[in-house]
Amino acid sequence: MPLVTSLKKFVRASAAGRVALLPLRLRLGVAQTGPDLLRLLRWLRTSREHTNLTYDLDALNREYLAFFLSACLGITVEEVRGYLDEVEQDHRLAEHIRQSVRNGPARAVSDEVARYGRRLGWYAIVRARKPRLVVETGVDKGLGSCVIAAALEMNAREGAPGECMCLDINPAAGYLITGAYANFARMIVGDSIESLKNITTLIDVFISDSDHSASHEAAEYEVIAPKLSPKSVLVSDNAHVTPCLAEFAERTSRRFLYFQEQPQNHWFRGAGIGIAF
Ligand SMILES: C[S@@+](CC[C@H](N)C(=O)[O-])C[C@H]1O[C@@H](n2cnc3c(N)ncnc32)[C@H](O)[C@@H]1O
Repeated sequence: MPLVTSLKKFVRASAAGRVALLPLRLRLGVAQTGPDLLRLLRWLRTSREHTNLTYDLDALNREYLAFFLSACLGITVEEVRGYLDEVEQDHRLAEHIRQSVRNGPARAVSDEVARYGRRLGWYAIVRARKPRLVVETGVDKGLGSCVIAAALEMNAREGAPGECMCLDINPAAGYLITGAYANFARMIVGDSIESLKNITTLIDVFISDSDHSASHEAAEYEVIAPKLSPKSVLVSDNAHVTPCLAEFAERTSRRFLYFQEQPQNHWFRGAGIGIAF
């Protein structure tokens, strides 16, 4: 047996061989995790957030989001890219977020810069589908709600009016939903299940982002099942954690796909968009 092959066998098979490989394996792991550690240190210094983290999408990930939505919505990738550009270039929206966070009740624990992450996808869905009714469960400060409201405002200008019902159990939630955005997004305070039971209009786009337990998420889909319009789209902001929307899709003969976020320059691994259509 040639010497090199024997050495390789020794390294693979013996405990001494595993020890000999440690520096190489450590270097491999540090090359992967080291940049994340640096991002974490930078984030500790520059951000104030401790929950519902915000970030931009990595450029390649944003491009894949466009292809993903093109497949889900049955529109061209150019059209999706157009919507993503539109919201990213909406300086009025970004300035509204900046000013409202700066003057808002949670300014000590919030970042002023508008970073939409996967909410770019929510914008494109609303622009493409021109819904009459969007329902978002779980509002927090209202970043997603304002993004949806901005899309609804553009739709209205194009002759396709619609509104968003924003459901949150916390009476202090939704403080970003003011000004022009309040014309298109309406806060409803209470447990999302109870609020959903009271909706009497057909829902075109449903976004689940409230209590992230599997039981609560699944219960939301059950309540809205008879209230969905024929061409409705459902989005789970929890699909990286539970299969609830995938299961609902299968049970109700819908298709399901999942997009995984890749945050840009952030240690967080991202959430995603689960979509049933
Ligand atoms: C992840 S945040 C929502 C983030 C928001 N969609 C966004 O775009 O930034 C979750 C929100 O769900 C709300 N929530 C938790 N349990 C709830 C429930 N049972 N009913 C309604 N809202 C609930 C919380 O108060 C919190 O504001």
